[in-house]
Amino acid sequence: MGKNSADPYYCDVKENLKLFYGDSLVLLKDFSNASIDMVFADPPYFGNQSGLVMKRVDGHADTFDTQKAQWAYSKSLNYQFEFHYTWLKEIKRLLKPGCTIWVTGTYHSIGVANVVLQDLGFKILNDVILHKRNAPPNFLGSCFRAVTETMLWAKKDYYGKTKFNYKLMKELNGGVQMKNLWEYWAKKNGFRHPATKQPIILEYSILAGSNENDLILDPFAGSGTTGFVARGLGRKCIMIEKELNYCQIIQERIEGKYGEFKRKTRIESDVSKTTA
Ligand SMILES: C[S@@+](CC[C@H](N)C(=O)[O-])C[C@H]1O[C@@H](n2cnc3c(N)ncnc32)[C@H](O)[C@@H]1O
Repeated sequence: MGKNSADPYYCDVKENLKLFYGDSLVLLKDFSNASIDMVFADPPYFGNQSGLVMKRVDGHADTFDTQKAQWAYSKSLNYQFEFHYTWLKEIKRLLKPGCTIWVTGTYHSIGVANVVLQDLGFKILNDVILHKRNAPPNFLGSCFRAVTETMLWAKKDYYGKTKFNYKLMKELNGGVQMKNLWEYWAKKNGFRHPATKQPIILEYSILAGSNENDLILDPFAGSGTTGFVARGLGRKCIMIEKELNYCQIIQERIEGKYGEFKRKTRIESDVSKTTA
């Protein structure tokens, strides 16, 4: 990081993991050029209606009050484009050559992120479809049940070799090439965040796109799944989160309050095997 950066909100004992409390759109400007080996970003989806209280049936929480997740409120397309240009422009500068970013999104948001990535000169490598087998139903019965999210995987630019542990991923997939459909069961966790990612998704992304001791960045940390898994896999990690209560959850999580990280094997994992 540059010398003007704010102090981290939290560091783990070895200082391999740092959490910054603040706005990524501002803080990312302080990081040095070509300093990051991989980015995992789960930005706001801008798809929620303000103040809607929905009852959840997937076991995660009794209700999800969108009033409490103002960062997820729907926003104009202009706002969304500006938001994604601002942080992705910095990510392009921060990534080392050949390195990659994962960007997740729902049908509300992924189209904008995709256009911005391409316009900034990232090379889209894959759209990985995340199929949540136990996704909740459409509460109002007004459209189909949404069971997927998209995760774009993109390289900094079109030059050089992509940092990709192809052989490892093939090995984890029983010796056959892994496909871009990852299926999983969402499991309960002990903390409250409305959009936490399942650790298996991070495990596979991190193993595919980084090596031990690499530095991973998550600019929208949420409940800190990226740091939790990255640390468990021997990577360094920088996270940024702008809600203080989520920063507290992240610290508790890293310190083991909700259980230690356990790496899954291919057999235990719910990521599906290719038939090709
Ligand atoms: C979809 S959630 C990320 C969930 C995360 N992947 C996890 O597993 O918990 C998006 C997060 O980004 C945070 N956020 C939104 N805008 C931000 C910004 N400009 N800077 C930093 N964090 C932001 C929100 O508070 C929210 O926790």
